Formats: sequence, structure tokens, C-alpha cells
Amino acid sequence: MSKNVEKYFKEVLITEEQIQTRISELAERISKDYEGKKLLLLCILKGGVCFLVDLMRALDVPHEIDFLAVSSYGANVRESTGVVKIIKDLDDPIQGKHILIIEDIIDTGFTLSYLMKLLEPRNPASLKICTLLNKQDRRKIDIPVDYIGFDVPDKFVVGYGLDMDELYRELKYVAVMKEGF
Ligand code: IMP
Ligand code: MG
Repeated sequence: MSKNVEKYFKEVLITEEQIQTRISELAERISKDYEGKKLLLLCILKGGVCFLVDLMRALDVPHEIDFLAVSSYGANVRESTGVVKIIKDLDDPIQGKHILIIEDIIDTGFTLSYLMKLLEPRNPASLKICTLLNKQDRRKIDIPVDYIGFDVPDKFVVGYGLDMDELYRELKYVAVMKEGF
């Protein structure tokens, strides 16, 4: 960890090497599961962007990508409110396509539960979820998650796409924030 950032972080939870190894494993599974299918990776902005880029380059099946930007209403940056606002919708219809949602972290589950309800009526051939991180202990709504990178404890984490007040997304690892930041 560089000196410049280590004063803000308690520990590195997942190293760059662990992330890349896990992405290779997930990509192998996804490539098998979607062989011969019209796959569209649907990245949830902004947090899912690092995961999308590394995952798509590890996949061995042709696929399209698209982006959906959402935000939770409310000022509390550490807690999802459950009310989701669509900031940028998909560019194209998803009817008949196999959709794999690419998300950084599932916490309460409110965001993805909302997105599933939004996307299901658009009649995709299938709709599944792939998340880098999963905070199972914090779940308030049960949602089926098909691919999980890592289960993480109930701690606020940053890096590899995840932010704290829009900062630290660029880190190649996932770190736990110190309390008070
Ligand atoms: P959910 O609706 O509670 O599942 O929240 C999901 C969203 O909350 C994620 O896409 C993140 O943007 C954000 N989030 C939840 N936990 C963390 C965290 O530990 N660090 C950074 N963002 C988080
Ligand atoms: Mg997010």
C-alpha cells in the first residue's frame, strides 16, 4: 500500500492478485455457461466499471456491453436508501438477449431488486447477476446472485471501482476504510 493512501485505510481486504485470480475463475464459468448464447454484460455505473473491464477481457465468449447509471436518493453515503434513481438508461432494447448484470457490491439488495423489476418486463432471454463483492450479513431483500467474486464482512470498503465520496475507485485492490473517514 502506498504511504499516500494508507493513512485512510485500516487494511487491504482483497489484493490485486486475489481479484485477478478470482476473475479468471469466474470468466471460465461464465464462458461455459453462455457458450453459443447472445450475451450482454450490463455494467452498473460507476462502481462496476473496473470489474467489467477485467472480466470482459478474461471471457472467452463474444459479448456486447451496455451501461446503466443509478443512484440512491438521500445524503447518507454509507447506506443505501432503497429508492433508486435511473441516471442513464440502456442504449438499446434487451429483448431476447441473455443479460448478465455486472455490479461492484451487493449490500442491502435494494438496488438490484429495483433493477431486476425494471429489466424483467423488457423480456430478456435470461437475467442473471454477477457481483464482485457480496455483503450477505447486510441483506434486507432476498435476491438470487448467480456469480459472486468474494463474500465480505459488514465493513465499508473502497477500491477497484468502489468509492467513498467518489474517491479511491482507482485502487487495484479492495481496502477497508478507517472509521471517521
Ligand atoms: P444496496 O442497494 O444496499 O445493495 O447497495 C448497493 C450499492 O451501495 C453498491 O452498488 C455501492 O454503490 C454501495 N455500497 C454498498 N456497500 C458499499 C461499500 O462497502 N463501499 C462502497 N460502496 C458500497
Ligand atoms: Mg454501485
